[in-house]
Amino acid sequence: MEKHVLNTMEDPLAAARESTVEMLQTRKRTFSLPQPFYNDARLFALDMQEIFEKEWLFAGMTCEIPTKGNFMTLDVGDNPIVIVRGGEGTIHAFHNVCRHRGSRLCTKDKGKVAKLVCPYHQWTYELDGRLLFAGSDMGSDFNLDQFGLKPVHVRTAGGFIFINLSDEPPAMDEFLETLEHYLEPYQMDNVKVATESSIVEQANWKLVIENNRECYHCNGAHPELLNSLQEFDDTDDPRATPAYKALVARKQADWDREQVPYQLQRFGQRNRMTRTPMLDGIVSMTMDGKPGCDKLMGRLPNADMGSLRILHLPNSWNHFMGDHAIVFRVLPLGPQKTLVTTKWLVHKDAAEGVDYDPDQLRRVWDATNDQDRQLAEENQRGINSKAYQPGPYSETYEFGVIDFVDWYATRMLENLEYDTPSLQLAQG
Ligand code: FES
Ligand SMILES: [Fe+2]
Repeated sequence: MEKHVLNTMEDPLAAARESTVEMLQTRKRTFSLPQPFYNDARLFALDMQEIFEKEWLFAGMTCEIPTKGNFMTLDVGDNPIVIVRGGEGTIHAFHNVCRHRGSRLCTKDKGKVAKLVCPYHQWTYELDGRLLFAGSDMGSDFNLDQFGLKPVHVRTAGGFIFINLSDEPPAMDEFLETLEHYLEPYQMDNVKVATESSIVEQANWKLVIENNRECYHCNGAHPELLNSLQEFDDTDDPRATPAYKALVARKQADWDREQVPYQLQRFGQRNRMTRTPMLDGIVSMTMDGKPGCDKLMGRLPNADMGSLRILHLPNSWNHFMGDHAIVFRVLPLGPQKTLVTTKWLVHKDAAEGVDYDPDQLRRVWDATNDQDRQLAEENQRGINSKAYQPGPYSETYEFGVIDFVDWYATRMLENLEYDTPSLQLAQG
């Protein structure tokens, strides 16, 4: 008992850990989560500690830092991170925190530098994180080697950059190998960001992901998206029609000839990847369904590649078409505040104003993102009511949401127990 009290004093979240475990263990699996998961500040702090600081996160694309010295920054909750391309093309990720007195080191979203120089007192780091220079008055026994930047785990595949803030990240080699294989036809060294958007949604990050994991709402909400998108992407989906199955068979024969991978792949519930046709006669997610960029991606022989859909929990979904790709990153900002960043990618040699018009390219998803923002925000407002209680997901229309919540609950429980041995004892 004494130990427990001590634990509570040491960890302000100890009580929240216990109640979270209790709620996750007693939740109804096919129902939405209890209210605190969507609006409670302590539970949000746990989400950040146990999910966003322990799981692999999608950070950005390798094409955003194409050459030595290019960097990008992002915030994972309270943790500023910098990702930089070093010598010989190596990509490094660090806590963006100076080892002198802790100032944020890189203050811009993106840029290019010869060395990483702290704006406060100019401590200077090599692109691989080694401290090179710390002024002249640090004393004769000061050892530069002890003050390098703190590294963050980073992996790349198929142009994607993933980071992990934990000491021992979970394995994901199999997913990365498959991702590399599926993105090979797009030659991801030859892409660029044509345009991007960042929106802030007044909703918990889980509501943003839940909304993305179903198209039950598409008919009522997304007229622009439904010009091109199939609401399902699997011939085993209960909604798949004979016409869809015939279209899939026809397209898969083409993709076989073109040596473009399409089979549905899953890696636990964390990753899902599949290529699915667009609506018949449609080749891209544009207002008219025609290519948004005349120069196709990579080695693709024609624009009619359907859409390669890639899911990475907890924070990314993506659509790769023949002419352009759209990548999405979700970063929580607060219990009811989430940043959603969308980037439209095209071939790096495509010329703006000639091969593509950025305004045209982004029209469908600008509209869709805004519609989804409104849906998530209304969902949040209702959930905040004292009348809210968990409601049932449809297993036909919302199995993707069930999968996400299962993944979340499993990872939370595993990660929480790892951190709180007293809970393991209590359950043992
Ligand atoms: S805090 Fe970075 S140089 Fe002082
Ligand atoms: Fe939507």
